[in-house]
Amino acid sequence: MAPSCYARAKSRTAVPELVLGPLLRHVGPSDATFWVETDSPCEVEVRAGRPSTRSPTFRVGTHHYALVRVTGLTPGVSHEYEVRLDGEVVWPEPSSPFPPSVVRVPGEGELVKLVFGSCRISAPHEPPFTLSYADDERGLGVDALYAMAMRLRDQPPEELPHALVLLGDQIYAHKPPYDTLDFIRSRRDTSRPPGEDVADFEEYARLYRDSWGDPAIRWLLSTVPSAMIFDDHEVSDDWNISASWVEETRMHPWWNDQIAGANASYWIYQHLGNLSPKELAANELFEKVRTADDAWPPLREFASHAHRTSEGPRWSSCRDFGNVRLIVVDSRGGRVLEEGRRSMVDAREWAWIEDKATGSFDHLLLATSLPVLLGPGMHYLQAWNEAVCAGAWGELSKALGERVRRSQDLDHWASFQSSFAALTSLIQRVASGEKGDPPSSVTILSGDIHHGYLAEMDPGGGVKSRIYQAVCSPLRNALPGKKSSLQNVAWMKPFALATYLLSRLAGVKPPSLNWHLTHESPWFENHVATLQLDGRSAHITFEEAVTDDSREPGLRKLFARRLV
Ligand SMILES: [Fe+2]
Repeated sequence: MAPSCYARAKSRTAVPELVLGPLLRHVGPSDATFWVETDSPCEVEVRAGRPSTRSPTFRVGTHHYALVRVTGLTPGVSHEYEVRLDGEVVWPEPSSPFPPSVVRVPGEGELVKLVFGSCRISAPHEPPFTLSYADDERGLGVDALYAMAMRLRDQPPEELPHALVLLGDQIYAHKPPYDTLDFIRSRRDTSRPPGEDVADFEEYARLYRDSWGDPAIRWLLSTVPSAMIFDDHEVSDDWNISASWVEETRMHPWWNDQIAGANASYWIYQHLGNLSPKELAANELFEKVRTADDAWPPLREFASHAHRTSEGPRWSSCRDFGNVRLIVVDSRGGRVLEEGRRSMVDAREWAWIEDKATGSFDHLLLATSLPVLLGPGMHYLQAWNEAVCAGAWGELSKALGERVRRSQDLDHWASFQSSFAALTSLIQRVASGEKGDPPSSVTILSGDIHHGYLAEMDPGGGVKSRIYQAVCSPLRNALPGKKSSLQNVAWMKPFALATYLLSRLAGVKPPSLNWHLTHESPWFENHVATLQLDGRSAHITFEEAVTDDSREPGLRKLFARRLV
């Protein structure tokens, strides 16, 4: 008997579909991990040559996810791949204007190419959103990540970067895209707090979907492996800026759902893909999540606990690309904020970072959302502010210090002077050969501050590596003019001298190292950076996102330099 219309309709709706992804995430010497979100439970299969690998989805509330690990990849060879859900091909999409997605692990001695950047508000790639803010208040300019995707689309697979390093503020929970806003408005009264800010796991999941769902971004993330770390906007503006901020925010009735949703969604959408297969196999929470009927209860418990303890999960991660080591250092989620114990990460995570930061690599990269080497004026201002907030100028000045801290976002490594000293000392030890043969270069990759630059640490006694701070921010979220000016003066000598004296008056010790800008002044445009590491040499390029002569998004060189 022919199936009824109802049965046909039911079987049609029962076919699982991709909601987001595939994202190509961790890549090892001959293996790769793929991440997907689907609309229903199913078996996810990735075919990148033979044999294919399958994995069942796991459920979090009404959402379904899978991580699929593919092994046996030949180094230096590009493997086209497809994704099947319950046997049906869902990727590549049949009418896609993009080339087939590939997976490729680095070949022996191959030049390593990494693209990096941070701070990206998602909006359509058309006017008025592509206009500047000066031309239209909805304008965000050209998205540098989108422009990079459009460039890579036309390049052969062997030219693709080995990784995209996303340095924080991949989503903006308090400036959600219009589709997410419609979703939020459809499910709750936004005249009540937290208003139009993202409020719970369901809304964060929607925010990720809308931020990474554009076809160009989706293709880019499917074919270039990625390492990611969050910053404040993955949760809310100023998240974890200080102990008093945390205390105040915890009093809001909506906070528990917001922080649980933010941490849980970050763990699923970004953190899981940072982990190596060995780390995943040893991860107790992942085991619970994979095997639960509904993983939300254990995930919620983890996400809430992660916020309530300073001895929380390790969000930092590490991966090697041939003889290049990349350590992604969390500088937001694992902070210890209690006065007297302030630290960017807890003692256990710091020990892990120290263990991973070694020589005997051609290059060592330390990726951390917040810059370590700021403009000197800003460095001393932050050091002064930390001291004042701790009571260096008496109880009355503490509140004033906290107001300045929050209004000017003074919470970078310079605001955690003991962590600044520990990290720069660690870098100097690596660079002087105390932890194995010194690398040719040590480069800190950072974002967050809505301007970009390349600074170099002045060589100290015994240091054999070149040491740099490269900052690339924003991908798409340029600062309004006034804040740009403040960041610009941070590199000027009179401002640096004034804030240096201020910090000394508050009892701050001067840093044991110096650094300088390698060019005239920072840039504030939407931009993206590319690092090329070839044996012992290294080269960096910063490119601005522009509309080219044919009115298509393009990239124009802002600055390039051979690092070593
Ligand atoms: Fe940030």
